[in-house]
Amino acid sequence: MDKTTRREVEKSFLEVSRAAARKKIYALRAEQDGESQLARLFRAIAISEEAQATRLLLQLRGQTGTNYQNCKTSFEEEIPNLKKQYEQAMEKAAAAGERAISSLFAQSAKVERIHLNLKKKLETTSTKDTSYHICSFCGFIMENHPPEKCPVCTAPASRFKNI
Ligand SMILES: [Fe+2]
Repeated sequence: MDKTTRREVEKSFLEVSRAAARKKIYALRAEQDGESQLARLFRAIAISEEAQATRLLLQLRGQTGTNYQNCKTSFEEEIPNLKKQYEQAMEKAAAAGERAISSLFAQSAKVERIHLNLKKKLETTSTKDTSYHICSFCGFIMENHPPEKCPVCTAPASRFKNI
């Protein structure tokens, strides 16, 4: 794939992924307002856009590095940068008196820190059958079984998804 086309595929992937995430929020709003047909349409479009995003991602698959390179990018760049971004955002929100948003950023920073710990654990353990349980509210990941209550955001076990 030539560079210009690749950039377009990457850009489209980011845009459609963001659009799909937004549609899910629009669906929640429509549901709250009692407009269930509109909510269903937003949900349907969100799933459609996720399918488009996956197709685009598959086109980029050949452009990704080895597992070693991908781990280096994820765990030495992307996740630490995201964690730093959340921590800075948390301080700015706190300074602006936005306590709820500041708490959200703090929880997200904690979740990213846990991702780094999970990778370290993966390096030091020989088990190959660890399952991951993800809090669908804050993103906290627990190994092997969901907690009774999320230690980060206190969501109940029913909010956890198993991978
Ligand atoms: Fe949580």
